Formats: sequence, C-alpha cells, structure tokens
Amino acid sequence: MGGSSNTFEGKAAFVTGAASGIGLAITKALVAKGANVMMADIDTARLTIELEAMNAPSQLSMVHCDTSDYASVEAARDATLARFGKVHYLFNNAGVSLAGRSGSFEVKDWQWITDVNLMGVVHGVEAFLPGMLAHGEDGCVINTASMAGHLTTAYMSPYHATKFAVVGYSEALYHELQKSPINVSVLCPTWVKSNIYNASLLSPTMTEDKAAEMSANPAYQATKALVDNGMSAETFAELVLTSIAKKRFFVFNDPEVRPVFDMRRDRILADFDACLADLESS
Ligand SMILES: NC(=O)c1ccc[n+]([C@@H]2O[C@H](COP(=O)([O-])OP(=O)(O)OC[C@H]3O[C@@H](n4cnc5c(N)ncnc54)[C@H](O)[C@@H]3O)[C@@H](O)[C@H]2O)c1
Repeated sequence: MGGSSNTFEGKAAFVTGAASGIGLAITKALVAKGANVMMADIDTARLTIELEAMNAPSQLSMVHCDTSDYASVEAARDATLARFGKVHYLFNNAGVSLAGRSGSFEVKDWQWITDVNLMGVVHGVEAFLPGMLAHGEDGCVINTASMAGHLTTAYMSPYHATKFAVVGYSEALYHELQKSPINVSVLCPTWVKSNIYNASLLSPTMTEDKAAEMSANPAYQATKALVDNGMSAETFAELVLTSIAKKRFFVFNDPEVRPVFDMRRDRILADFDACLADLESS
C-alpha cells in the first residue's frame, strides 16, 4: 500500500492503547516509517514487554496513561513533550467494550465506557491540540471509533453510543480544523484481530463470577470468533497510515457493510420524507 514514508519520518506520535491490538500495530508501522512514538496505556506490564520486543530505543518511549482521567492524560502529554519536544500525530485509540441488555446494565459501567471511549478521546484533544497547533507543522488527530459508530446491533448500546459520539465529535473537529495544518481522521473498522473482546474485564463492576459467566455466554464466544478471524491489526495499521498520508477522513476496512449503509440511509430518508409529507398535509 502506498503512503509516503516522508509523512512520518522524524515526526512524533502519541498512541493510546499502544500495548495491544490496533494501537500496538500502529506503533510498529510508525516506527518502521521512521517516526518517534510515545506508547501510552494503562497496562504498563504489557507496554514494557512490547516496547522491549521492538528494540528501537531511540524512537520509542512509554508512559502509563489512563485516558479516562484528564490529569493522567496531561501528565502523559508532559512526558511526551519532555521526550520528543512536540507531537504531530495524536492517536486517541484506547477503547473498551460493554455488552448487555438495556435495563440491566450497571450505571457505573455505562459511565466507565463513556469515560474511556468518548472522554478519553476528548481528553487527548484537549491536552494535545493547543501544542499541535502552536508548533505550526503538519499533523493529524486520529480518533478510533468503529463501524459500530455508524451501524448498530442489539445488546451493544453503550459501545454504539460512545462510538457514534466519537464519529460525530471527529466530524465537528474536522470542520474546526479545516484551515489549520492539523488534519483529522476517524477509524471505523469492523473486526480486527485484538484483545477487545476481553475489554469488559476492566469494567468497575467486574467480578470473578461475572467474568466466568461472560466467557461462557454464546454471544461473547461469537464476538471472540469474529475478532479472532478479523483483519490482521498489521494490515489495518498500514491502511491507517496510508489514509493519514492521503488526508482521508474516514478509514473503513469492510466491503460487506456497504449495503447496510445504503439500508440505513434509505430508512433515514424514508422517515425524513414521511415527516415532510405530514407537515405539508397538516
Ligand atoms: N478489534 C476490533 O475489531 C475493533 C473494531 C472497531 C473498533 N475497535 C476499536 O479499536 C480500539 C483499539 O482496540 P483493540 O481492538 O486494539 O483492543 P485491545 O483490547 O487489543 O487494545 C486496547 C488497549 O487499550 C488499553 N486501554 C483500555 N482502557 C484504557 C484506558 N482507560 N486508558 C489507556 N489505555 C486503555 C488496553 O489496556 C489495551 O492495551 C478501541 O477503541 C476499539 O473500540 C476495535
């Protein structure tokens, strides 16, 4: 896949969720293209293992960062600036999932997924964007949403709500930054191989009993199978860097969902036309 390596050579990136899956693959792809990367994650044990395995000490550093906590993101930003001087590419990628039936969720879990998936992205932008604009060089804010930020299924409402919010937030940010050297992209993948199916183990109300129940649930096993059989994170990361180099806003990876987009648009427009017809006839 094309994408000029000059876009990333010698530039600095901050990547959240860098210890696993998509964030780790993006880190590796950036390093291969000559970028410097601050890897940020709550899982510092795993970060350490992955950072050492890459063996690129002059290009890589790591920092503990809980994206749901603004003070933690500010501290991670300060560590990044101390190490690399400036940031060109901000990857707000860390995310978690939560499945269940509406009416039976713990409100604390809803708050948690909102704090990580939506506020984590907002915290990244609030902490890093002023500095990215101030240095005046080209860069990009890359927010990881999901195909679940466009199309919905049952029993994933917190995930869908947060990912729709990330898509909307990213679009608004794109409009705001049109006349600046900072571009915006939003990643909207379907199934990419990672550990995302285990993310709800991090939820505040998780217990050993709940974890055992969750892993025995057929819906969990079906999701795990879809993720395990998904696109490799490396292939997706290459597409991401190519898309950033081409200043593409949406990044999609799944040809099968095209007709479902058409169905959603048709349903919206059918209700739109029906409402206008009712207004005209009233
Ligand atoms: N894998 C997929 O199929 C898929 C599809 C669509 C979107 N996504 C999104 O991609 C992003 C990356 O997920 P992934 O699939 O690589 O999963 P993953 O679980 O392999 O990686 C997520 C990483 O985020 C970290 N993390 C979790 N909470 C955090 C927090 N509060 N602060 C900092 N780090 C935190 C985890 O420790 C982990 O290392 C997520 O936003 C996810 O919603 C994934």
